[in-house]
Formats: sequence, C-alpha cells, structure tokens
Amino acid sequence: MTIIGASDVEKARGPILVGPGDVVTPLARDRAGELGIELRYGGEAPSPPARPVGGPVAVTAPLSSQPGVDLANALYRRGAPVAAAIAPGRPREGAGRPKVAVVGAGHVGSMAALHLAEADLFSKVMLIDVMEGLAAGVALDLWHCASVGGFSTLVEGTTAFSDLADYDYVVVTAGRARKPGMTRTDLTQANADIVGPVADQIREYAPESVVVVVTNPLEEMTHLTQVRSRFPPERVLGMAGVLDSARFCAFVALTGVGRPDEVVAYALGSHGPEMVIPLSQATVAGRPIRSVLQSEALAAITERARESGAEVVSLLKSGSAYFAPGRSAAEMVCEMVSSRGLLLTCAVVPNGEYGLRDTRVGLPVRLGPGGLTEIVTLTLEDEELQQLRRAAQSLSERIHAVG
Ligand code: 2OP
Repeated sequence: MTIIGASDVEKARGPILVGPGDVVTPLARDRAGELGIELRYGGEAPSPPARPVGGPVAVTAPLSSQPGVDLANALYRRGAPVAAAIAPGRPREGAGRPKVAVVGAGHVGSMAALHLAEADLFSKVMLIDVMEGLAAGVALDLWHCASVGGFSTLVEGTTAFSDLADYDYVVVTAGRARKPGMTRTDLTQANADIVGPVADQIREYAPESVVVVVTNPLEEMTHLTQVRSRFPPERVLGMAGVLDSARFCAFVALTGVGRPDEVVAYALGSHGPEMVIPLSQATVAGRPIRSVLQSEALAAITERARESGAEVVSLLKSGSAYFAPGRSAAEMVCEMVSSRGLLLTCAVVPNGEYGLRDTRVGLPVRLGPGGLTEIVTLTLEDEELQQLRRAAQSLSERIHAVG
C-alpha cells in the first residue's frame, strides 16, 4: 500500500497511478485538482474497504464514483479539515492567492507561519528548514489548526529550497539567537554565514519574490540579503520597526492612558541602540502623547522598548523573543497582500528622504504587493531628525562592513 500525499502530487510531472489499496490523502486530492495532475486508478477494484474512521481513506477508485459514498460527509464525520477543493459549498480558495515561505522553522518562523496561515490570505505557507523533519512537523501541527482556526491556507514543510519555485513572499528567520550578554552585532558573522546562502537560493528559486528579513543583526542581514539576492531594494525589507513600535505601544498602555492598539508610534532608526521614536508623531487615542504622559515616563518607556529584546533574552536565558517578532513579520507580509494602506516602519534603503542615502534604516513606509511602495516623510522636530541621521550614518558603516 502506498500513501500518496500532497508533496507526491506536487513533484509529479504526469498522471499518478493509484494502485489497489493505495491511499490518496484529501490534501493530495486537493492539490491534484489545483495542479491538474491526473490520479489514474489502476488494477482490479476490490470491494470498497470499510471506511476507516480517521486518517486518510484507502481508495482504489475515486471515492466519488463509489456507490453510496458521500465524500464530504465522510470527511466531516471524521472531523478532518476538509480541503477547499472537495468541501461542499466552499469556493475553491487556494487558486490565485499568493504563496509565502518562511525560512527557518524555529520559534520565530513557526510563529510567523501561524499568523500567516490564520490570516487566510495565502494559498500556502511553506516552512523551510535544513533540520530533517522540523519544518514538516511544525507545518503538520499548524495544519491541524485549520478547522478550529478557520483558515484554508495549506501549510507544508520542506528541507528543499527548490520548493521555493514561484513563491511570492519569503520571510527569512534562519540564524542564531542572542544569548544573555550578547549584542545583536555579536551575531554578525555566524548569521551572515547562514543568511548569505539563503539569499543565493531565494535568487535562484524565487527570483520575483519579496523578502522580509528578521535575522539579526537586522540591518546588516537585510543588506546582505539584498546584495546576495541582487533584488531591487524595494523587494528586500527588514522587519524591526513594527516590532519596536509594538513594544513601545504596549508599554504606553501599561500606564493606563489607553489600549495598546490606541497608541500610534513609529520606531525609526536602528533595531538597536540607535532606535528613534519621534514623540512629536506619537498619539494615544488621537491625543498627542506628550499631552498625556510626562517626559520622564516617555523617556523610560522609549528606553525599555529599545532594550526589550535584551530584556526577553535575559529572562529566557536560552533564546530570544519570538511571539512578537513572528507576529510583526507576518504583519508586514499581510499588509503587502491586503494593502490596507497602513503606515508601518521597516528597514529600507532611503533615496534622499530625510536627507538620507546609501544606508539601510528604519523609516515610515507604505507597502504593496511588490514590496515597498513609498517612504513617507513625516515632519520631525530638529532633534528627532538629527537622531535619525546619526542612526543612519552608524548603520551605513555597519552594513558596508558586511556587504
Ligand atoms: C528582538 O528584538 C529578536 O531582535 C529580536 O527580540
């Protein structure tokens, strides 16, 4: 007996012969329908086996052709997540939706994949990891959430970068995490040795994709990804500002002046000591933040947001944050696909905005399906602008040391 799964269908270059007693999983049947791969049922069809409860159904002929078989109910009765292609009354959703890959099936990658799947904006989320079984195991666990999570985005895992072919978005989380006492910059060489080859593979297999880099040190790894992928700068974005801004908003909310999602703030500059949060641009429920919190409190909140990564590392002792980084990376990709017009902050290459060039720095941006669509010029106070320019200069020196 052979179990024919979705990955077998995707690798097939022609009809698949389903022999007596072979098993075609519902996901494989769905993918065959999407890819136009024929499932050719061969051999004598023995009398249909008693339908097992749970697990894939053993078929020797298309179930739908067997007398008295109500495929959908069978699947519903088993409680299995019913693939969109065969669920009654549900439109085929997969076709036409973009695909997103997440490189690195560690904590950050897994969290990013979860949020991307739950957004239900993609036909597939694929995890890639060099560790045998890790991406596949995490992906299977995530797919188990589909029915209770209300999404039909397929989740799969692989070790093969060649599976990246024609993917639209790639989130790069692969790399080492900090240990207590380390700075992000301490990770530069170790993570450059990982991210460089990843960028080479993205260039080879997903040459039209948009890349979101999470790996630290963020600006250096984003720059390296752009250099090695040879992609235009608007298609290689660093994830940092969404995370740092979220941390600032969370700490403002702890003071009781408003909910975290009522706070608006833009973390600019670097994902590190040169992070800048222009208070002139921050609000709480529409009110200027400096009218609701004292400057000392705001200074302390800004410092805590800037050092939050290290704070989590010192508490965890064996790794760094992953819920918020994963959620933030997913937010960027979802914004590119849904184009809600959000004003986010990402590590990008300025082209004269704020008087900046030739660096990779956190700036306010708008994103669209093809990546960066606009660097937004906010009216900063003079000291805020000087802080941002100092950050950009420092980052320019660091990224060129790597690139
Ligand atoms: C952080 O700030 C891992 O850089 C990430 O937590």
